[in-house]
Formats: sequence, structure tokens, C-alpha cells
Amino acid sequence: MKNLVIYYSREGENYVNGGLKNLSKGNTEIVAEYIKNAVGADLFEVETVKEYSKSYMTCIEEAKAELRENARPEIKECLTDISGYDNIVVAGPCWWGTYPCAIFTQLEKLDFTGKNVFPVMTHEGSGIAGAPQALKKYCKGAQVGEGLAIHGADAAKSEKTIASWAEKNLK
Ligand SMILES: Cc1cc2nc3c(=O)[nH]c(=O)nc-3n(C[C@H](O)[C@H](O)[C@H](O)COP(=O)(O)O)c2cc1C
Repeated sequence: MKNLVIYYSREGENYVNGGLKNLSKGNTEIVAEYIKNAVGADLFEVETVKEYSKSYMTCIEEAKAELRENARPEIKECLTDISGYDNIVVAGPCWWGTYPCAIFTQLEKLDFTGKNVFPVMTHEGSGIAGAPQALKKYCKGAQVGEGLAIHGADAAKSEKTIASWAEKNLK
């Protein structure tokens, strides 16, 4: 099975267990790397042309406005062909209950017919939230498999949990 992880992850100030902390690597990026280490996968990072604010509070407002407008922020690079993959993991932080809109910019460009897709979400309490529904909506023709929710603040300590989910679902 050939695996691809499409992910978005924001470094900078984030809310960690009740306080603000500056992160040099985003939580979802840590999770994406653990998936790769466990079962082998290509990683594709979705990066926006216009960066979100490094300030958590400002970013919260930017993300809220985007969601309200159902925005499709421009991304630096766009994947156009996933025909070589069987399993596609879509990993991102929970932003207001769903993925950041930039993930949707990417998903709408791809043909998911016959693929297996897996929702992965890092969060500070909302769990998997709207990730499975989002994949049902944006990955037309795909089978949506078992999801994985990882508490963002625990991402670095979650290698075992992530590896056992990956071994079960992506082999
Ligand atoms: C704009 C924004 C909105 C967020 N909304 C939620 C939310 O609705 N529910 C939740 O549990 N966590 C929320 N969080 C926390 C993030 O989901 C969490 O810290 C995540 O692990 C960040 O991943 P990253 O470091 O890969 O970007 C939000 C964070 C940001 C920056």
C-alpha cells in the first residue's frame, strides 16, 4: 500500500494546556512524521501564501473570518495527482471545529475516486470534531476510514498511539 499524508500545521504561539506557548514545530507536523516513521508515507505540507499570524489570538480571528466566508486561501504548492497512492491521510489542527480552510483549497483540486482517506486531527479538547464529515464532503468517491484524534499538547508523547493506528489502518 502506498501512503500519502497531506497536512497543514502552524508553528508559533499556541494554546497548550491552558497557557500560551511558542512552538518551533507544529503539533500536526509531529503527528505526520510519526505516521511516516511507523508505516512509510510521503508527506505533503499545505502552506499558505499569506501566513497566518504567529500570535494565537490574532490567528484565531483570522481563522474565524475565513471559515465564515468559506474562504479558499491560496497555497504555495498544490498537489495535482494522487493516482499513485492507495491511502491518503488528511491531517490538520482543529480550527473552529474543522480543518483550516487551506486544506480544503488542496482537497478540492484532487480526484479521490477509489481512494481510502483517513481523518487525523490535533486539538485542544474538540477531538476529531468535524474532520470525518469534511472528508466525506471534500473527498468525493473516497472511502472514509477510521480517524485519529491527538491532543495537540501531547503530540510529541503520542508516538505509540499514532503508530498502532497507522499499522492497523495503513497497511
Ligand atoms: C485558529 C485556531 C483555532 C482553534 N480552534 C480549536 C477548536 O475549535 N477546538 C480545539 O480543540 N482546539 C482548537 N485550536 C487548538 C489547535 O487545534 C491545537 O493546538 C492543534 O494541535 C494545533 O496544531 P498545529 O500545531 O499543527 O497547528 C485552535 C487553534 C487555532 C490556532
